[in-house]
Amino acid sequence: MAEILVTGGQGQVGIELAARGWPNGVRLSLPTRDELDISDAGSVRAFLAGRSFAAVINCAAYTAVDKAESDIGAAFAVNALGPALLAEAFKSAGTPIVHISTDYVFDGAKDEPYLDSDPINPLGVYGASKEAGEQAIRGAAARAVILRTAWVVSPHRANFIKTMLRVGAERPVLRVVADQRGCPTSAKDLAGAAAEIALRLIADDRAPTGTYHFVNGGDTTWHGLACRVFETASRHGGPSPTVEAIATAEYPTPAKRPANSRLSTARLTADFGIVPRPWQDATDEIVDALIGGKG
Ligand SMILES: NC(=O)c1ccc[n+]([C@@H]2O[C@H](COP(=O)([O-])OP(=O)(O)OC[C@H]3O[C@@H](n4cnc5c(N)ncnc54)[C@H](OP(=O)(O)O)[C@@H]3O)[C@@H](O)[C@H]2O)c1
Repeated sequence: MAEILVTGGQGQVGIELAARGWPNGVRLSLPTRDELDISDAGSVRAFLAGRSFAAVINCAAYTAVDKAESDIGAAFAVNALGPALLAEAFKSAGTPIVHISTDYVFDGAKDEPYLDSDPINPLGVYGASKEAGEQAIRGAAARAVILRTAWVVSPHRANFIKTMLRVGAERPVLRVVADQRGCPTSAKDLAGAAAEIALRLIADDRAPTGTYHFVNGGDTTWHGLACRVFETASRHGGPSPTVEAIATAEYPTPAKRPANSRLSTARLTADFGIVPRPWQDATDEIVDALIGGKG
């Protein structure tokens, strides 16, 4: 039996990893944060004592982007020290790691979608802490795939689609930022990519490693995503507020966000054969699950 350790199993991506069908002979270990705190060396040591895994998918992260600006120690503990402890713990056994990272390692100044090889320059604490996590994995020379993603949405936990549906039911007019471009990404589709990569790494010692991007196909703005959410929701009798386009400057937040968050998935498709579906299909599926009762 090949056992895959999934950290952060109660998060958006972890929930989707737990929900998916896995091949016979594969099972998941899904510890809670109390059972395995990746930012605590003692907890990592105690959890791993006497256990071995076929692969690790690290979905555990400090994801509160704005709060991170004033909670620097906590963000770095989970996003930088955590991956360092995992990489160190699994290095000697050669256990493959799929580590999820973020578009926020980039500053957004590029005009084109970011390539996996583009220089990084985070604008805020969250991005800097995730960059440090990437460096820790690379520095430990662990057998790893770093999988960057962006704008993760799902029917679970807190995310942009759920926020829009909640506030859209409360207010007739919403003002949504229209000058940040990115690729909305279904946690389910991201989980599918992470699972496929982990299974390849388990099956094939020569499977590619390094840094890759996974996002759903195409791109839009937060305003464009909100419009799509309400178009779909209104077909189910859900909210359909007016969605006004505003500039980032009109919606100040503690953390600066990249104006361009688009990520190229070309290398992932070339090396792993993974072709993401369009963001519109993924968005509709989530809204259907939340409003249409098709979950
Ligand atoms: N959400 C996005 O838009 C987005 C965009 C780009 C990249 N990403 C990346 O995608 C990955 C998955 O994100 P997500 O949206 O699934 O995040 P999420 O829903 O916030 O889930 C994160 C999970 O990590 C757990 N966690 C936090 N600190 C931990 C620790 N010290 N030890 C163990 N577990 C810990 C949380 O536990 P609790 O359940 O106790 O809170 C939660 O289950 C992360 O690496 C994130 O940086 C996300």
